[in-house]
Amino acid sequence: MEYNIVVLDGDGIGPEICKGAISVLERTGAKYGHTFNFRHCLMGGCAIDACGNPLPEETVQACLASDSVLLGAVGGPKWDHLGGDVRPEAGLLGIRKAMGLYSNIRPAKLWSSLADASPLRKDLTKNGVEIIIVRELTGGIYFGHRERGFEANGEEFAVDTERYTTHEIERITRIACELAMKRTKKIISVDKANVLENSRLWRKVVHEYVEKNYPEITVQDMLVDNTAMQIVKNPAQFDVVVTSNIFGDILSDEAAQVTGSIGMLASSSLGDTTCGLYEPIHGSAPDIAGKDIANPIATILAAAMMLRDSFGLTEEYAAIESAIQRVLDKGYRTADIWSEGMTKVAGSEMAKLIADEI
Ligand code: IPM
Ligand code: MG
Repeated sequence: MEYNIVVLDGDGIGPEICKGAISVLERTGAKYGHTFNFRHCLMGGCAIDACGNPLPEETVQACLASDSVLLGAVGGPKWDHLGGDVRPEAGLLGIRKAMGLYSNIRPAKLWSSLADASPLRKDLTKNGVEIIIVRELTGGIYFGHRERGFEANGEEFAVDTERYTTHEIERITRIACELAMKRTKKIISVDKANVLENSRLWRKVVHEYVEKNYPEITVQDMLVDNTAMQIVKNPAQFDVVVTSNIFGDILSDEAAQVTGSIGMLASSSLGDTTCGLYEPIHGSAPDIAGKDIANPIATILAAAMMLRDSFGLTEEYAAIESAIQRVLDKGYRTADIWSEGMTKVAGSEMAKLIADEI
C-alpha cells in the first residue's frame, strides 16, 4: 500500500527526531512492501520565521489531505515574547482543532529494560507501570473564551474559561471505554468536582454515558490533586485514565517521568476519521537542539502508532516496538536514559540501530 504522510518537523530537536522516525518508517516499508511518501510542511516557530504565521493555510490543507501527520515538536525561547495567537504553540492548537482531533491518547509504560530510569522506589514499580491517559484535546480551557484587559481603576486582568458540553465529554468517554474494554474494564475519570462546576458536569456525563453504553465498565472518580499524588504513590493502580484537556496535559508529563524518561513516550491524536496526528509527548528541547543527543524513540514510537492506529498495520507496529526493545536490551542508550554500564549513543545512532533491527 501507499501512504501519504505530512511531516511537521517543527522547532528545536523536531527535525532531528523526525529524521530518525522517517528512517525507521522507510525500513519498515521496505520490509513489508509499503510506500510512505513524506511531505514536509511548516508549523510552529519555523513557520513564523518563514511566513509570519505559526500555521500557514497550506499546511492545514496538506494535513487534511494526507493519510496522517507526524509531528516533531514546536516552540522555543526565540518566540517566547510573542502574543498568544502568534506563538508556535498556537500552530499546534490550531492544527488539532482544524483536523478535529479531540482524542489524545498518551500511554506511559515502564519498559522492563529501563526500570532503573524511573525515579520511583523499586517496590513501587516492580509489577510494571502502564498508565494510558486519554486526554480531551479540542475543548476546555485551551479553547474557551479568553480575554485580556484593564479594569476601570487601570489594573490589568486576564480571563481563561473552562467550557465543556455533554457531547464533548461523551465522545472522549467513548474512546476511553473502547480502550478499557480491551484491557481491565476499569476507568479512572479525573476532575476537580469539589470546586469546578465544569467538573461536576464532567463527572455526571461520564457516569451516565458509561452506565448506559458500557455497563461492564467500572468508573472510579479521582480528584486531580489526589491523582497527581497517587501517580507517584502507587502508579500500578492506574490503567485507563480519562480527563480534560488541561488536566491531561499536566498528568501526562508526570506519568511520563514516572516511567523513566519523557523521551520514550508517544501520543496519538484522532478524531472521527483515521487521519490523525502522531507526536512525541516531549517538547522541542531547544537547549539540546542540533547536538544529536536527543532521544528519537518517542517519535519512532509515534510513527509506529500511526501505522497501527491510522493504517491498521499491527504487524508493522509490533516490528518497530520489538526492534526498540531489542536495541534497549543490547544496552544502547541515549543520554537521557543512560546509566552506568550501558553504551551511550547519539540520537542518530539510536535511530539507525532501531532501523537495522527491523
Ligand atoms: C502537549 C504540549 C502542548 C499542550 C503545548 C506545546 C501547546 O504541552 O502536547 O502536551 O499543552 O497541549
Ligand atoms: Mg504538555
